[in-house]
Amino acid sequence: MPTIEDARDTYSTSIAWLASRDELPHLLNQRKLYGCGVEIGVQKGEFSEVILAAWHGKHLISVDPWLTETTEQYIDIANVSQEQHNVLYEGTRKRLVRFGTRSSIWRMTSLEATAKIPDYSLDFVYIDARHDYESVMEDLNAWQSKVRPGGVLAGHDYIDGHFSAGVFGVKRAVDEFFAARGTPVYSTLMDAPWLTWLTVAALPATPALATTT
Ligand SMILES: C[S@@+](CC[C@H](N)C(=O)[O-])C[C@H]1O[C@@H](n2cnc3c(N)ncnc32)[C@H](O)[C@@H]1O
Repeated sequence: MPTIEDARDTYSTSIAWLASRDELPHLLNQRKLYGCGVEIGVQKGEFSEVILAAWHGKHLISVDPWLTETTEQYIDIANVSQEQHNVLYEGTRKRLVRFGTRSSIWRMTSLEATAKIPDYSLDFVYIDARHDYESVMEDLNAWQSKVRPGGVLAGHDYIDGHFSAGVFGVKRAVDEFFAARGTPVYSTLMDAPWLTWLTVAALPATPALATTT
């Protein structure tokens, strides 16, 4: 029976065979994506820790405002009180301190962070912030151009519907966004229902050459 280690041999040529999101750092290693990456939506820092522990890359930026919102603005189990957010932020700082300068924590929103990052400069972006359709579309539009060609744009909770965890429109937003660009979307295989979607960033469209008459 093939093992997870066997599947890792496919990662340099395919993103179709990841068992779970914990395989993302191994995919990045196989593709020699060793530069800078971003996780958007960090909460306790658990997945930032998974990435930093297994990925051989230089620098992970973990972005989260740790800021409470009204339930009209943000219907999600992650929308906790400001006191709880402050505890989560401090816990994340403690969890990630062992990674030294490989880890930066930016306490700000996804959109605030994009303003500080040059286009085509990141090896990967992992989106796991707000899960409603409009917010996911906003993040996709904001972050797509930050990933360099050949880099990985991915995210958590590839699912739609009303759950105890909140209102999710991630799958519809991701499918629409990438279908409009002709980019294939893959998902992890064995961590349903909270699957991770994955894409490889394409070369930017070549501007039409000016013709002279
Ligand atoms: C599901 S949790 C993230 C879990 C984390 N990715 C993990 O797997 O360990 C979602 C997080 O998104 C954050 N969030 C909400 N709005 C955000 C925004 N505009 N930009 C960045 N993060 C946001 C919340 O504060 C919350 O901590």
